[in-house]
Amino acid sequence: MRIAEEVTSGLRGRIPTEVMEVGTAPTTLPDDIDLLVVGGPTHAFGMSRASTRKSALDQADNGVVSKGEGVREWLTVLRIRRPIAAAAFDTRVRTLLAGSAAKGVHKALRRHRMVLIAPPMGFYVTATKGPLDEAEVSRAIEWGRSLAETASTV
Ligand SMILES: Cc1cc2nc3c(=O)[nH]c(=O)nc-3n(C[C@H](O)[C@H](O)[C@H](O)COP(=O)(O)O)c2cc1C
Repeated sequence: MRIAEEVTSGLRGRIPTEVMEVGTAPTTLPDDIDLLVVGGPTHAFGMSRASTRKSALDQADNGVVSKGEGVREWLTVLRIRRPIAAAAFDTRVRTLLAGSAAKGVHKALRRHRMVLIAPPMGFYVTATKGPLDEAEVSRAIEWGRSLAETASTV
C-alpha cells in the first residue's frame, strides 16, 4: 500500500488520483477514468493467491492491509467499457529469481484491451517482511510522475 500511495503522490501533480485497496476497487470502471495503475506483492513468482496470502498473514507481525481477494481475482472480474491507459507494478525482494506479479498484471490488463503505457515495474523490499527499501520510495514517486506525463500524451 505504501508504494501505491507513493506512486499516487507522483501522479497527483498532473492527474487527480485515488488510491484504493483492491477489496474496495470497483469491478466495473467508471467512464471518467483516464489511467489505471494496478499493483501488488509478488508471491511465489507471480500475483498472490489465497494460499500465499494466508501464508503472508501467518508470517506478519502486524497483520496485513489486504484481508480479502487480491489483484489476480479482481482482474478476472474486472469490466471496462472502453480502452484506457494502464500500467502495472509489484513489490518483490532483491533475489536473482524474484519473479514478478507485475508481469501477470500487465498481461491481464492487456487482455482487457487496455493501452499499456509502461513496462511492468518492480519495487524492492529489503526482506520478505519488509521494510521497504527507502530508495524505492522516491523511485515510486518518480515512476508516478512519468506515468502521468505519458498518459497525458496518449
Ligand atoms: C507467501 C509469500 C511468497 C513470496 N514469494 C515471493 C517471490 O516469489 N518473489 C519475491 O520477490 N518475493 C516474494 N515474497 C516477498 C513479497 O514480495 C514481499 O513480502 C512483498 O512484496 C511485501 O509487500 P507487502 O508488504 O505489500 O506484502 C513472498 C512473500 C510471501 C509472504
